[in-house]
Amino acid sequence: MPLGVSGAGGPEAPHRVEARKARSEGIQAGNGIGIANLAATGRPSHKSDVHPPSIWQWLQDHPLAQHIGFTWWFPLLESIHVIGIGLVIGSILTVDLRLLGLAALRYPLTQITGKLLPWTWAAFVVAAITGFGMFVTRAPAYVENPAFQIKFLLLPLACINMAIFHFRTFRRGIADWDTAEEPPPAARIAGGASLLIWAGIVLAGRWTGHLI
Ligand code: HEM
Repeated sequence: MPLGVSGAGGPEAPHRVEARKARSEGIQAGNGIGIANLAATGRPSHKSDVHPPSIWQWLQDHPLAQHIGFTWWFPLLESIHVIGIGLVIGSILTVDLRLLGLAALRYPLTQITGKLLPWTWAAFVVAAITGFGMFVTRAPAYVENPAFQIKFLLLPLACINMAIFHFRTFRRGIADWDTAEEPPPAARIAGGASLLIWAGIVLAGRWTGHLI
């Protein structure tokens, strides 16, 4: 039984309610399929009717996506997404603060990363699966959402920053500064950059719901 719940939490903005209503009637305004023109003009447009639906539209039209979007599954996935994010961010920030020489100074970096990073990766998988589950419910709108686009620019950037740190700074010289309270500049830069990038990812994630 559809509950008509909001994806972003709190009362749903009128434009989101309208978008949801339009979708339930099969009208995807602005998504480039013929039915949008049918809604606007009363006649199907020849031009867009000959185009097959995009992959995003296909995802959104999938019965599973419809089910998630119109039932309690969306808020459930969003809640699990937030728990996953909490674990990803919490564990990464602990490592970042250690790299910056600001927290957990008594512990060698290898001990912290050894204990926390498996949780980071597991939680990231949870965040990715639940994020995808929400994404499919309004895929064409999400891919055009600037906040969502920023999030998906910053996510690879966070991975690149992590990879550079791991393969250049950590692997090559960790034995020299594992227990140092003040890690070398390259490590501190990586920690600071990671803090900023992940803050940006959370901001963009929160913002997404307000632009859709
Ligand atoms: C660990 C990486 C990620 C972080 C830190 C993150 C962060 C966030 C945040 C903070 C929110 C807002 C939650 C709320 O306000 O309740 C959010 C929502 C969302 N995220 Fe993510 N996310 C991540 C990964 C992903 C991935 C991989 C996808 C897609 C495949 C995704 C898709 C979404 C969607 C669709 C929403 C709902 C937006 C809305 O309110 O309409 N996320 N994310």
